[in-house]
Amino acid sequence: MSLRTQVGIVGAGPAGLMLSHLLHRQGIDSIVVEARSRQYVEERVRAGVLEQGTADLMAETGIGDRLKREGLIHHGVMFRFGGQTHRFDFDELANGRCIIVYPQNKVVADLFDAAAGGRVILEAEDASVHDFAGASGVAKAKIRFRAGGEAQEIECDFIAGCDGFHGICRPSIPAGALTVYDRVYPFGWLGILAEARPSSEELIYAYHERGFALLSMRTPTISRLYIQCKPEEDINDWPDARIWQELKLRLASSDPNWKLTEGKVLQKGVTGMRSFVVEPMQFGKLFLAGDAAHIVPPTGAKGLNLAVSDVRVLADGFAEFYRAGKKSTLEDYSRKCLRRVWKVQRFSWWMTSMLHLFDTDNAFDQRRQLAELDYVTSSRAASQSLAENYVGLPME
Ligand code: PHB
Repeated sequence: MSLRTQVGIVGAGPAGLMLSHLLHRQGIDSIVVEARSRQYVEERVRAGVLEQGTADLMAETGIGDRLKREGLIHHGVMFRFGGQTHRFDFDELANGRCIIVYPQNKVVADLFDAAAGGRVILEAEDASVHDFAGASGVAKAKIRFRAGGEAQEIECDFIAGCDGFHGICRPSIPAGALTVYDRVYPFGWLGILAEARPSSEELIYAYHERGFALLSMRTPTISRLYIQCKPEEDINDWPDARIWQELKLRLASSDPNWKLTEGKVLQKGVTGMRSFVVEPMQFGKLFLAGDAAHIVPPTGAKGLNLAVSDVRVLADGFAEFYRAGKKSTLEDYSRKCLRRVWKVQRFSWWMTSMLHLFDTDNAFDQRRQLAELDYVTSSRAASQSLAENYVGLPME
């Protein structure tokens, strides 16, 4: 069967679904092709922090109702080291901008609910992309896949590769056309989701001689907690009691009234950490957005927000092309996105470097890290810089 659309989108994660949503609002037709089921995509436990700009975009485009009801607005974030807790106050340091704790899987569910019926094709197997090398207007680009046991093809003017780091779009571009910038960190995060009232109203990033720990949350009754671990850590070596024990040590506070709330562990897993960028983010009629083009380590909670800022630029480019026949914004897509991408890469790398133990570090490096933490929590200029990046740099 052959289908036609203006923009063919590969991947129904936040990038692909948000792009489809923004295009629909501009009267531009799209079809999203996704390898997994809706249940799989919606239940995938991922990030949980929205920059204000991301939340504002959801509200402005009519998908912010549940976010408004259930999102937890945070006006600050905490660092803990040497048992002491320091708060970065966004009201004071970031002109009152804030972050909203709202899980990525809810963002995806809200986008699915908003999607015009039938424009998302799920459980599409063996997707591949074709005829995207030339300029627009010549031959149509194509997405081929199998669905319901049948070979299918979508003809489109453009393809948006929103299919994540392991997706098929980026590897379909001739290797010589892309430059890869990559850094793999010598550690991972072991994360749990627990039925436990969060022990703090705001997130706590903890630096500790045993390694980094993070206290986050999903709802007023569900905590999300992480500890730095080896990248190849076997989750079977970590029974729940051992995880809680380690969290208690690393999140320990000099405040005798502070206590880590424990509860039933609902989910646990280990994630690797890397920084990754490809340049450019476009090849002919194929545009990469979100994790397909770049990965950040999770220490700044930036991955989802960066994907949203990419597709915002891309949707503007398509809108200008279809409205006025102008290609300039679309041709500027990669350059415009990469300026923001690299600044967010820098911030995520910096947060990661400041807060984790590196096995190549010596006593000098640990003193240096403590001096950096002391500086960033005591200098107004440094605190302001952290807060400005944490709440989100301007979208463009
Ligand atoms: C999360 O809640 O999953 C989370 C929060 C902050 C981060 C990373 C992950 O920096």
